[in-house]
Amino acid sequence: MRKIGVLIDCDPGIDDALAILFALASDKLNVEAITTVYGNVSVRQSTDNLINILEISGLRPLPEIGIGSARPLVKKRLEKREVHGKDGLGDTSLGRPRKTIEIKDGVELAVSKILSKRIEYIIATGPLTNIAEIIKTNPKIPDLVKRIYIMGGALFIKGNITPYAEFNIYNDPEAAKLVFDSKIPKTVVSLDVTQRVILERSDLTGFKKDKERLSRFIYDIANFAICYHRGFRGVKGAYLNDPLCVGAALEGKICEYKKGSLGIKLNGPQRGRTIVGEETGGAQDITYAESVNVDRFKRLFLGSLKKICKEVAS
Ligand code: RIB
Ligand code: CA
Repeated sequence: MRKIGVLIDCDPGIDDALAILFALASDKLNVEAITTVYGNVSVRQSTDNLINILEISGLRPLPEIGIGSARPLVKKRLEKREVHGKDGLGDTSLGRPRKTIEIKDGVELAVSKILSKRIEYIIATGPLTNIAEIIKTNPKIPDLVKRIYIMGGALFIKGNITPYAEFNIYNDPEAAKLVFDSKIPKTVVSLDVTQRVILERSDLTGFKKDKERLSRFIYDIANFAICYHRGFRGVKGAYLNDPLCVGAALEGKICEYKKGSLGIKLNGPQRGRTIVGEETGGAQDITYAESVNVDRFKRLFLGSLKKICKEVAS
């Protein structure tokens, strides 16, 4: 079966790192390029983290990488937060990458690969600033991108950065509105479903025992996220926000979907809120995940990570 060419745009971040490894392990996806954006950490740190993740993955050939936006379209970046550790990867302190990989301009890299039809799908797991810049760069982009999978929004539940807004959207609601208003078919994987998919300590036993570097890295970052969620959110494990977005791109049956119009608040205390309904005057025909087959997803996700660890070890 022909692999589909995808762009991953991310702000690694622990769940981004797990999502990247999940996508790289798939036989269905050809990760043509990975671009970085500010968000969980600065775009410089996101990029260092991406290079370290790719180096530890041991995969060859590597996707091309591009550094993207350092700040939102309009407002300034949110204050630093350390949900993912000081370094964004669970304080694994990997330091500056040892490996020298060519780092291109992220928007230029993505646009050239979309125009040459090497990239047909986008998986966005960070603030949508880069995606907005990509769409603004060339009017042909919306006709060439078959679908964008977006990890973002809190449609019918509380937000995770304010009571109304989810972190990725809240970082740059203006960019999110531009992306949602574009004609690119969109699938939204919001907190409403990602917070139903929890990685628990028991899921990590296979990785903890393994001494291989990649397996150890997966265990260390996942365990950091589990400790954070148990300590600060009273949740029994870590939400797999970004990996579920990859899962949605991989298999149509992972989630069940509805269609509706989606508005985004830009002003006032509800800035960054994503609201479903005709009255929002928002973009029409947005596909959003309404439920998730948790067992099916976790089997695919954990199986893929174990597969990539075996490949690296062999
Ligand atoms: O709200 C969760 C999202 O914000 C995830 O993508 C996480 O990595 C952060 O970027
Ligand atoms: Ca992310």
